[in-house]
Amino acid sequence: MSAPVGVGIIGAGVISDTYLANLTSFPDVAVLIVGDLVAERARAQAEQYGVPAWGTADDVLAHPDVQIVVNLTIPAVHVEVSAAAIAAGKHVWTEKPLGLDRESTAHLLRDAEAAGLRIGSAPDTLLGPGFQSAKRAILEGAIGETLFAQAAFQTQGPDLWHPGPQFLFARGAGPLLDMGPYYVSALVSLFGPVDGVAAIGSRPRAQRRIHTGPAAGDLFDVEVDTTVQLVLSFESGQQAQALFSFDSALERAGVLEVHGTRGSLFLPDPNHFRGEISRIEPLGVLLDDVRPEQERIPVAQEGVVVGRGLGLLDMVRAIAEDRPHVATGELGYHVLDVLLSAEESAAGAGFVAVESTLAAPVPVVPRDMDPFARTL
Ligand SMILES: NC(=O)c1ccc[n+]([C@@H]2O[C@H](COP(=O)([O-])OP(=O)(O)OC[C@H]3O[C@@H](n4cnc5c(N)ncnc54)[C@H](O)[C@@H]3O)[C@@H](O)[C@H]2O)c1
Repeated sequence: MSAPVGVGIIGAGVISDTYLANLTSFPDVAVLIVGDLVAERARAQAEQYGVPAWGTADDVLAHPDVQIVVNLTIPAVHVEVSAAAIAAGKHVWTEKPLGLDRESTAHLLRDAEAAGLRIGSAPDTLLGPGFQSAKRAILEGAIGETLFAQAAFQTQGPDLWHPGPQFLFARGAGPLLDMGPYYVSALVSLFGPVDGVAAIGSRPRAQRRIHTGPAAGDLFDVEVDTTVQLVLSFESGQQAQALFSFDSALERAGVLEVHGTRGSLFLPDPNHFRGEISRIEPLGVLLDDVRPEQERIPVAQEGVVVGRGLGLLDMVRAIAEDRPHVATGELGYHVLDVLLSAEESAAGAGFVAVESTLAAPVPVVPRDMDPFARTL
């Protein structure tokens, strides 16, 4: 590879703004073309962010200087678009989930490996200074040996704010597959692979209403459970519980707590790149029934904060340095496997053993990673 590395984006929807803003600010990459089914959308995004070309997905794949395709399409076509990019000889960074089913997703990973190409998968929030500072604190023993974790994402649902929310209530999404990747990737990054999961779910409304944009007022069908609760067991012996809901009047997102032998850690929202981190220490002896307040002790956050695109940047540099990247296709596949196993459990399969694993622990991001440095 020679710097800067050529990137082509497929999918010019809602999330493409943040990718385009960030990727066009990294000296190690150059965004060369934006493609979309809707040509005008690709053109508008290319013009807004100073990208020299726009067109269809095929135009992106045919661009001779594009070395990495960024797949920002909807989940239903993630595998199809990523597979086309691999067939065209491009590395792939894809939004989550990596795919919708184990078979086609595993096939994609095998094809990429056979072609000597990399796949990276969102979420890349786990490379952010928020999560990384918390992970380093845990690895350095801030709460002793980790024992268990709790996670919660509960909101009224994205139909409140997304102008085209149907895909978020379709197969491959719902709170479990749309938000689960952030929380489960964070837990796997801390505890290692999951070996089993049990879940229950519910779908209180068969139809929901769009609240914003040109289709506001329209009803659409709900294809997946909109409240799911999970109990996870990890190969390493730890355990976690997690709640994902689009049915909660209470808006409480980003709860991630890890409890250890010498304290508990409050981590930042795993859907964000930064956030407050604090820990508490266990109480000493309780005398005369007096229960003192447990003081939250701040944990410093270190590192440069940007946003989505960080995982792609790490992959670009990892290719040049011939080292593994952090948010791999293997991790994305394992997280998908856990979430599909949870769906199967919620559909009545009981406790489901998770077959996939990881060959190595998820790497830690160096404190001094600077997205704005030219390194290639
Ligand atoms: N919206 C968010 O806040 C958000 C946050 C994080 C991750 N994501 C993820 O990003 C992805 C995209 O989400 P979004 O909200 O931007 O969706 P969106 O519907 O706004 O945009 C998707 C775009 O992809 C295009 N597209 C679909 N199929 C295509 C194909 N075969 N070829 C070319 N273009 C195609 C559509 O025309 C559309 O412009 C999803 O996987 C989602 O999970 C979204």
